[in-house]
Amino acid sequence: MKGLILSGGFGTRLRPLTFTGAKQLIPVANKPIIFYGIEALAGAGIKELGIVVGNTAEEVRQAVGDGSRWNISIQYLRQEAPLGLAHAIKISKGFLGNDSFVMYLGDNILRDGINDFVKNFDAHHPQSLILLTEVTNPQEFGVAVVDACGMVRKLIEKPKEPPSNLALVGVYIFDQHIHTAIDNIKPSWRNELEITDAIQWLLDNNYKVESHMVKGWWKDTGKPDDIIEANLLVLEGISSAQNGHVEDSTLNGRVRTGNGSAIIKSVVRGPVVIGENTRIVHSYIGPFSSIGDNAVIENSEIECSVIMEGATLRNVEKRIDRSIIGKNAVINVIDQSPRTHKFILGDQSYIEIAK
Ligand code: G1P
Repeated sequence: MKGLILSGGFGTRLRPLTFTGAKQLIPVANKPIIFYGIEALAGAGIKELGIVVGNTAEEVRQAVGDGSRWNISIQYLRQEAPLGLAHAIKISKGFLGNDSFVMYLGDNILRDGINDFVKNFDAHHPQSLILLTEVTNPQEFGVAVVDACGMVRKLIEKPKEPPSNLALVGVYIFDQHIHTAIDNIKPSWRNELEITDAIQWLLDNNYKVESHMVKGWWKDTGKPDDIIEANLLVLEGISSAQNGHVEDSTLNGRVRTGNGSAIIKSVVRGPVVIGENTRIVHSYIGPFSSIGDNAVIENSEIECSVIMEGATLRNVEKRIDRSIIGKNAVINVIDQSPRTHKFILGDQSYIEIAK
């Protein structure tokens, strides 16, 4: 079985972060989101992986490499435009051949990986096995109607009136029949070749589509709040590991610190991860925070936030909460008159100041 991770798209709902980088490379617990998918596939025994890339191809390739660090091989497949999930399979046909494959949307994180899912497919070998989970907002997803035996009867993409609360998680397994299905569908109203339409074609032509329910949590990291939530969920499962220098500080709960980092005269209340060569001085780092490499936090308070590499926070005494601070961003509170705010913000930046 092969793996196909989709890592194209524009990530418009994650601007401004995605103006300068791929959404799949945004860090969650200091690890690029796409790494969770790669590890899930490698963990399920997949050795040959294709990554479908778009206009952020070069940076994805640089961050991920050739797969040797996971002991697998990775090929990059260029999709000229984000024309749908089924289109991504279409352009990957040369790589996939007639093999069965797992398709994994590169912005999804599943706590328990996909081992059970792959085992289920191997046991029954339907034409497609889809992964489902119950949600409270099914109109935002592909929705499935499933019978008592777990056989899929119908799929609808983002229905206004959802027929069930079972959302399609962004992980699917197909055999070679999916290529015929894709050759027989037409682009949707949004001009995309929809994977839901291709699976519906399999159903309409009497092929077997089965479903598998997600056990642990699942997060699709499409929006800023999803990144913060995914970061929180991943940090809930970390263990402590101290590689940095700690001086006159209190560390509570599970805290990970990277090589060369220093925590001085500060309080860190886990779960928290701190990268390499990061300085935390006279600050409070509260639960569910991730702080990247080479960051500087001085006289500041942070909680439940993602602070990326190279960011600097100085004298931010009012606590920063549920925030995402991009690479090399600077927040500096200075003591001067007049007491003004000064902002140099990129397009679509967002600032919220509580009085
Ligand atoms: C895509 C799929 C949808 C699925 C979702 C899961 O949606 O089209 O069926 O439920 O991923 O993340 P999109 O990310 O395009 O909104």
